[in-house]
Amino acid sequence: MPRSSRGVLLPPVAGNRPRRADVYLALRDAVLQGTLAAGEHMPSSRKAATDYGVSRGLMEEVYSQLVEEGLLERVIGRGTFIAQRATKRTDPARHEEAVQHVSSVSTRGRKLAGNLACRIMREFKPFNAGVADTTAFPWQIWQRIQARAVRDLRRADMNFTDARGVPALRRSLAHHLAQLRGIRCVPDQVIIFNSIQQATYLLALLLTNPGDAAWVEDPGYPGARAALELAETTVVPVPVDQHGLQVEEGLRRASHARLACVTPSHQFPSGFTMSMQRRIALLEWAQKHDAWILEDDYDGEFGHARQPATPLHALDRHARVLYLGTLSKSMFVSLRLAFAVVPEAMVEQLANIRTQLDAFSAPLIQLAMSRFMDEGHFSTHVRHMRNVYAEKAAILTEGLRPLADHGWTWEEGTAGVQILLRHPDAHEVQRTAEASGLALHLLSSYRHEPADGDGLLLRFGGLGMPAIRAGVEQLVAAALAVHR
Ligand SMILES: Cc1ncc(COP(=O)(O)O)c(C=O)c1O
Repeated sequence: MPRSSRGVLLPPVAGNRPRRADVYLALRDAVLQGTLAAGEHMPSSRKAATDYGVSRGLMEEVYSQLVEEGLLERVIGRGTFIAQRATKRTDPARHEEAVQHVSSVSTRGRKLAGNLACRIMREFKPFNAGVADTTAFPWQIWQRIQARAVRDLRRADMNFTDARGVPALRRSLAHHLAQLRGIRCVPDQVIIFNSIQQATYLLALLLTNPGDAAWVEDPGYPGARAALELAETTVVPVPVDQHGLQVEEGLRRASHARLACVTPSHQFPSGFTMSMQRRIALLEWAQKHDAWILEDDYDGEFGHARQPATPLHALDRHARVLYLGTLSKSMFVSLRLAFAVVPEAMVEQLANIRTQLDAFSAPLIQLAMSRFMDEGHFSTHVRHMRNVYAEKAAILTEGLRPLADHGWTWEEGTAGVQILLRHPDAHEVQRTAEASGLALHLLSSYRHEPADGDGLLLRFGGLGMPAIRAGVEQLVAAALAVHR
């Protein structure tokens, strides 16, 4: 049993190189069963990481998750404690029974169920809110449009609906994509999904055989990786620098890959835009190797305040780029509407696969979305939100100014919902995160392979201006205290 240097006994974890899920489950069960009792002082995440032999980033992620679930509590200046309410939640006997049931699931099921990378916490605080600001959303207009959509929903639409999506929304999206993103497509090339993750999963099922290689960005979006793993591809991490995905390195690691998942307009989480040279290299690779590029344009309407970057799709002359967009950032995340632009024949194939999963997306919401776009509310809202996010980013970066003298760097001029704050000393980043008492995500937790330096992903979209101001003050104070 690892012994923390503060004296608290940490529960054992199987294996020499435990994964995040192993550490999380061991700690969670120990708290729920009362092995770690309410009020007990946890070791710092740095010490716990050493005890378990895992990275500090991983340990910090586990702690943050347990804090967000209310099992741990952070007290600024004092450390992390088992929450008072935590152990009273579960009757130990019932919990034991549940554990026994759970242990009879399949090996695959246990592996998938243990992957918590996509489990988003619903309580937003500085800086875990990489979501749309819903306070600025035109609710009254949306309610009116939705009510009209309910009235107009014909009886026929109450039965099975087109798996490719409601025709009106496919038309509205084709029009919107041409206007806002310079993407030329016809409505027959547009297919509606619930999310980019769902689209990625279905595209991977269509384009790969189990075990085929797929490039993902490193650091990168956990949702893409999870969807590719669910489809049983072999994920090949390819490092990202300030020019985007290092295509040369991808070629060295797996030139035979069937697809590459990229965020060229606004790399997640580093925020860089892919250079023209890399774009051309990526397109050439795809054409030469008969591979596909999944372009995840998750915040394409925003990206950079001055000019949102041109999508890779607009450069593609050989139909190798499959474009993925979502309304999660530009509308709101619970809308559950996303879309892909692909060759027409592929729309049919994807629709057929979709019918084997969950058939289609809810027509009512598609109809309302189409009206919202056609009546011009969507573009008005996006234009307004560009300014709102740019203003929030300006408050944040202004607040970060004192850190510039201490080696911290960040991107200026974003109109997106997050900013990456970097520092060449990973240890400093870790200590700042711990000392701040904020809900911070480390850049290292998005990495597949270790790399120099680290960073803090500041996700501010869903936070109000006062919360951003207070959060950045707290963060800067913590960082300066660490540097002292
Ligand atoms: C890179 C990236 N892609 C996609 C998404 C989410 O899209 P969806 O909600 O449609 O799955 C996110 C959300 O944060 C993201 O960061």
